[in-house]
Amino acid sequence: MRVGIHDLAVATGHHVLDLDDLAARNGVDPAKYHVGLGQDAFSVPAADEDIVTMGAAAALPLIERHGTDGIRTVLFATESGVDQSKSAAVVAHGLLGLPSTARAVELKQACYGGTAALVAALGIVARDPRERVLVIASDVARYDLDSAAEPTQGAGAVAFLVAADPDLIEIEPASGLFSADVDDFWRPNDRSTALVDGRLSVSAYVDALLGSWDDLADRGGIAPADIDRWLHHQPFTKMALKAHRAWSKHVGAEFDETELATGFTYNRRTGNSYTASVFLALAALLDLDDDLDGRRLALFSYGSGSVGELLTGIVKPGYRALRRAGQVAGLLDARVPISVDDYRELHAATSTSSEARQNPAVTTGPFRFTGVEAGARRYARTEPTPN
Ligand code: HMG
Repeated sequence: MRVGIHDLAVATGHHVLDLDDLAARNGVDPAKYHVGLGQDAFSVPAADEDIVTMGAAAALPLIERHGTDGIRTVLFATESGVDQSKSAAVVAHGLLGLPSTARAVELKQACYGGTAALVAALGIVARDPRERVLVIASDVARYDLDSAAEPTQGAGAVAFLVAADPDLIEIEPASGLFSADVDDFWRPNDRSTALVDGRLSVSAYVDALLGSWDDLADRGGIAPADIDRWLHHQPFTKMALKAHRAWSKHVGAEFDETELATGFTYNRRTGNSYTASVFLALAALLDLDDDLDGRRLALFSYGSGSVGELLTGIVKPGYRALRRAGQVAGLLDARVPISVDDYRELHAATSTSSEARQNPAVTTGPFRFTGVEAGARRYARTEPTPN
């Protein structure tokens, strides 16, 4: 049974903060952000955007291209959830007009949640190949203002359809796993920004990659030379380089950092999108690498706390016909620049508070978070549903 990713699409926030502006504000050499962290900018959601609007916006083109037939499961991965009980999957399901004959669930384990959803989806489709699963990974990465982690914020969503006989990538059955209880990054229930031990998080990430590789090797594994392209979770793109350097040393492979650069293209501009990050790297690779027919990809997902998983997949011949590089570039270029002062104001205001309010109409995306009524978040479509 061949199961994998049939199609995928990307969305992000309305605004963009240029890291040159943040560097100037913080009195930091901009090279620290561009070279030291490997980031150029980050997306900032408008006041009427959140994980639900971004996630639904990413999923909408998939529904328009493939319809809803066979979709009986919606899995929404996020670590910046907006409700402690009701899943963002149920809200996205409603906004997208999916059939009521579906299950809708939210998954959480820091940035690993998107990959957990992918693996669950593979199992659901293997059980009944007539079914397709809509996976949405959507996050807003928020740290305290003026913290060392501030330049590694960001926002974005990736949605993908998991199906039998997929058009894009066939995911191979074996994977490498690694879990360890570590306090490297977490967000207590009373906080809207994450707490993080930056140095520990970097070493915990590397431990998870090496542990996942070793587990895959113990299960029969594949030789380093049999992997054609690597995609890593990218909290900041330099992290992927650090981890890949450690892996190269671990297995005695040569390390050529230019090999990872294509997969960095979108993440450098969106910043950390937590659960979506490794899939944004995948989107960039599929859009921009012309030589992927039949190639084996390795996808490493890391979620602080911590869980790592290393999956491999084979790119289907014909993937080039499904590429949408122009659309993603257009989406990123169309973001409205925001000043550091305005970003700081939005950062202070952003809240999952249940106080009644109406949000200003700002986003040009297909869905809006219109406000809160009687404690419930309200959303709306901003353009008519295409026929
Ligand atoms: P920092 O204080 O900026 O660290 O914090 P730094 O002073 O060591 O500088 C960073 C790099 O910039 C260093 O390079 C410097 O040399 C370089 P490195 O030694 O690392 O190769 N640098 C310069 N380069 C060029 N020109 C210059 C210059 N100055 C300095 N002028 C830290 C960095 C990552 C700790 C901070 O940003 C942070 O806490 N970020 C958030 C945590 C994070 O992203 N951790 C990554 C692993 S955990 C993870 O991936 C999970 C996560 O996504 C969440 C989840 O799972 O849910 C976060």
